[in-house]
Amino acid sequence: MTNHPSNSTTSNLPLYLGIVLSVCSSIQGSMISTSCDVGQSAVLPCLVSSLHRSPPSPYIQWLSTSETVFEGMGTEKFQGHGYEGRANVPQQMLEQGNCSLFLEDVRLTDSGVYESYLVVGNTKVKRKVLLQSVQFIVRDHKLKKTVERGRDLELELYTPQAKQVVFQPRRLSQWDVLWKKKGKGSQMTLHPRAREGSLTVVIENITWNDEGTYRVLDENGLALSTVMVTVTEPSPDKPEQTQQKRQFLEDRSAGSRSYPGLPLFLLCGFMLYFI
Ligand SMILES: *[C@@H]1O[C@H](CO)[C@@H](O)[C@H](O)[C@H]1NC(C)=O
Ligand SMILES: *[C@@H]1O[C@H](CO)[C@@H](O)[C@H](O)[C@H]1NC(C)=O
Repeated sequence: MTNHPSNSTTSNLPLYLGIVLSVCSSIQGSMISTSCDVGQSAVLPCLVSSLHRSPPSPYIQWLSTSETVFEGMGTEKFQGHGYEGRANVPQQMLEQGNCSLFLEDVRLTDSGVYESYLVVGNTKVKRKVLLQSVQFIVRDHKLKKTVERGRDLELELYTPQAKQVVFQPRRLSQWDVLWKKKGKGSQMTLHPRAREGSLTVVIENITWNDEGTYRVLDENGLALSTVMVTVTEPSPDKPEQTQQKRQFLEDRSAGSRSYPGLPLFLLCGFMLYFI
């Protein structure tokens, strides 16, 4: 068997004892497809109807093509490499025949085919029954943003997996690093106008040169998100000005008292013209 890392809750788990005699292929086994955005939580569906055939604690196994993702029997649980702290089949749900896999903070590398099994039999002779195959697709985030010059650009990181923010200016091919997550022993790198928020990186006082493509990368350099940013001329100035002018004209024609000196001034000017 593979050398899975073990921790205190899993070290005594006798899951690998016994011989797996046969792997029954699908009874309920048509493939289900489910997808989710990177960083979110996902539920990979599974139903088990034949719990009465197994001991009080059903033994459930979730496998992906390359890894054991989760194994659980009663309170004893094992989470596979890369799934530590993220994969679970809640016990109360399982007792009701719901063997769905809960996966938190999903990663791009979680994409793949997952299979759940009910393991039955005693410790010497085990049999695995395929319960469900799930095609799981994890998508990256893609969006477009328009920012007014002088405003701030807020880039969402979505997940603690985010390790870098890089920027490619419009019509150029180079990528500049704007932000790097603080790691052990290494300093956090920040662009002079970048500041870190809670799961965001904000680029302040956007200029024309900030137009381009921003990417949030994970530790493997895969894009968690891609944001195409367009910079526009600040709009509040002009509309405000025209609105003020219109207001001014309306006030004058209505004989409002907002500008008491003005009609008099105009009248004087008018009279002077004829003198
Ligand atoms: C199993 O539980 C999950 C999470 O509560 C739920 O989304 C799903 O619908 C349940 N499945 C069934 C068949 O009840
Ligand atoms: C924003 O940047 C412009 C030049 O690009 C500069 O003139 C202005 O002072 C900056 N504003 C702030 C609030 O930093």
